[in-house]
Amino acid sequence: MISEIKALCFKSNAIILAHYYQSPEIQDIADFIGDSLDLSRKAANNDADIIVFCGVHFMAETAKILSPNKTVLLPDINAGCSLADDCPADEFQRFRNQNPDHYVVSYINCSAEVKAQSDLICTSSNAVSLVERIPQDKKIIFAPDQNLGRWVQKKSGRELKLWPGSCIVHETFSEEALLKLKYQNPNAKIIAHPECNQNLLALSDFIGSTSKLLDFASKDSSPAYIVLTEPGIIHQMKKKEPNKDFIEVPDINGCKCNECPYMKLNTLKKILDCLKNNTPSIKLDPKVIKKAYEPIKRMLDMSN
Ligand code: 13P
Ligand code: SF4
Repeated sequence: MISEIKALCFKSNAIILAHYYQSPEIQDIADFIGDSLDLSRKAANNDADIIVFCGVHFMAETAKILSPNKTVLLPDINAGCSLADDCPADEFQRFRNQNPDHYVVSYINCSAEVKAQSDLICTSSNAVSLVERIPQDKKIIFAPDQNLGRWVQKKSGRELKLWPGSCIVHETFSEEALLKLKYQNPNAKIIAHPECNQNLLALSDFIGSTSKLLDFASKDSSPAYIVLTEPGIIHQMKKKEPNKDFIEVPDINGCKCNECPYMKLNTLKKILDCLKNNTPSIKLDPKVIKKAYEPIKRMLDMSN
């Protein structure tokens, strides 16, 4: 299957982009792996005709907005995101209308229609620095992740009007399970994604996007890490640092709810099928593309 995928990519000038939460076998065949910001940059700058986006729907939509003339394939079109689902465009428009004097910052984990209603897009790796640069006299709406929003609020000192969304994966991590792991592994540092609840972030030694967690785990000298995010990232951590220990955090009931069910919908077989059939592809209204492009471009310009 892997050699067929490679051959089809070569024949149709396709590139495979993958997020760190994809399964190890998908990460291993990708041309590029990254966090949401890295993936947006790569989607905007590549010579391929087809982008196979191994991630979730909002990420593939962002690639389409940045490269509207390319075909963007999402191996499983049902690979959504609870944050994007938590923020329907019509409800968001009502919220904005109730706060007409606010500057709207939206986390990239939202639909293209919500991006089209935003002034600025951010990711977990640049949210704090972007919010810090918004003029002090502006009131700010931050959507849709309230946990990331609270963390940005704390770090930047800016008051944010938060949309009450959250990630089903990061919401399931339990403080009790974390404390138990820390007790069992006293030498391990806790590293967390800012989509986690505040009580967990308060216990963490380092907080950052998936790329930043990976970078920290590689530069830091600790022999072990308790990783408070989707465990897909551990594949790259182990590759980079084979002599360190990376411990995933079980959820409250000890089931596999720490895995993102949407990210894990993509499989090698679905990648092969989408390359063979040139579907499912991302289709967006050109008017939405035009409007959503502006706040994404602003983010890319501000993050360079
Ligand atoms: P990153 O931008 O940190 O990779 O986050 C993406 C995401 O979906 C986290 O749940
Ligand atoms: Fe969305 Fe959470 Fe999955 Fe990230 S981990 S894609 S925020 S549901």
